[in-house]
Amino acid sequence: MNHIDLNGRHAVITGGAQGLGFAIAERLLASGASVSLWDRDTAELQHASKNLEQVGTVTTRVVDVVDAADVEAAVAQTTERHGAIDILVASAGIAGPNFKTWEYPIDAWRHVMEINLTGVFLCCRAVVPGMIERNYGRIVNISSIAGKEGNPTASGYSASKAGVIALTKSLGKETATYNIAVNCITPAAAKTRIFDQLSQEHIDFMLSKIPRGRFLKTEEVSAMVAWLVSEENSFTTGAVFDLSGGRATY
Ligand SMILES: NC(=O)c1ccc[n+]([C@@H]2O[C@H](COP(=O)([O-])OP(=O)(O)OC[C@H]3O[C@@H](n4cnc5c(N)ncnc54)[C@H](O)[C@@H]3O)[C@@H](O)[C@H]2O)c1
Repeated sequence: MNHIDLNGRHAVITGGAQGLGFAIAERLLASGASVSLWDRDTAELQHASKNLEQVGTVTTRVVDVVDAADVEAAVAQTTERHGAIDILVASAGIAGPNFKTWEYPIDAWRHVMEINLTGVFLCCRAVVPGMIERNYGRIVNISSIAGKEGNPTASGYSASKAGVIALTKSLGKETATYNIAVNCITPAAAKTRIFDQLSQEHIDFMLSKIPRGRFLKTEEVSAMVAWLVSEENSFTTGAVFDLSGGRATY
C-alpha cells in the first residue's frame, strides 16, 4: 500500500457505513486522517464504527443527505467538533430499480435523483463555504460508469450519475482559484450491498461490459480516492477519474 499523508485532516464520508464509503474511510484513517461517517443506516453506522475504531479516530452521525437542514446541522456540528472539514467524499447513493425508461416508476425516478444527485449537491453546498474560508478543501463525488455510458434499464441511476459529473465540473471551476479540488470518480461495478437492489440480469450485464473481466475491488476505489483527497492533488479539479476496468472510452 502506498503511503499517503493525511495527518491532521478531517474527512466526512457520506454513505460511509458500508460499501465503497466504508472502504474509503478505512484507507483515509490508515493515512492519518480522522473521519466522520454520515449515513442514514444507524445499525450499519454502529457496526462500521466498531470495526474502524482500531484504525483511527471515527465519529458517526445519522444524516439523511436529502434533508438540507440535517446536512447543514451536521456540517456545523462536525466543524465545531473537529475544527474543519478538509475532505468530503460523497458516496451515499442507491441503485434504484431496473426498468425500461417508459416503464420506470415516476416516484422511483424522483427518489434516485433526490439521493444520488440532490444529496451530493446539498453536501457540497454546505461544506464548500468553510473550505473557501480556510482556503483548503478536497472533494470527491462518487459518480459511476453508468453516468458516462447510460446503462439500459437504469436510466434514473445513469442520469443521476451524469448529473454528478456535471455538478463536479461546475463546482470545480467555481472553486478553482482557491486551494480546493473537486473531482469525481466513475467506478464500474464493485460487489457491495448495493447489488441487493439489482436484478441478476443487470449484474451479469455490468460484468460483461468490463474488459478486465472482473468486478472492481473496493480497495482499488479507496486507493484512488486517497490520492485525490491528499494535499498533493493541488492542480487537478473539475475532473472525472475513470475506474471502469477499460470500459470507458473517454
Ligand atoms: N458498488 C458499485 O458497483 C458502484 C459502482 C459505481 C458507483 N457506485 C456508487 O458508489 C456509491 C456507494 O455505493 P456502495 O456500493 O458503497 O453502496 P452501498 O449500498 O454498499 O452503500 C451505500 C450507503 O449509502 C447510504 N445511503 C443511502 N441513501 C442515503 C441517504 N439518503 N442519506 C445517507 N446515507 C444514505 C446507505 O445507507 C449505505 O450505507 C453510490 O453512490 C453508488 O451509486 C457504486
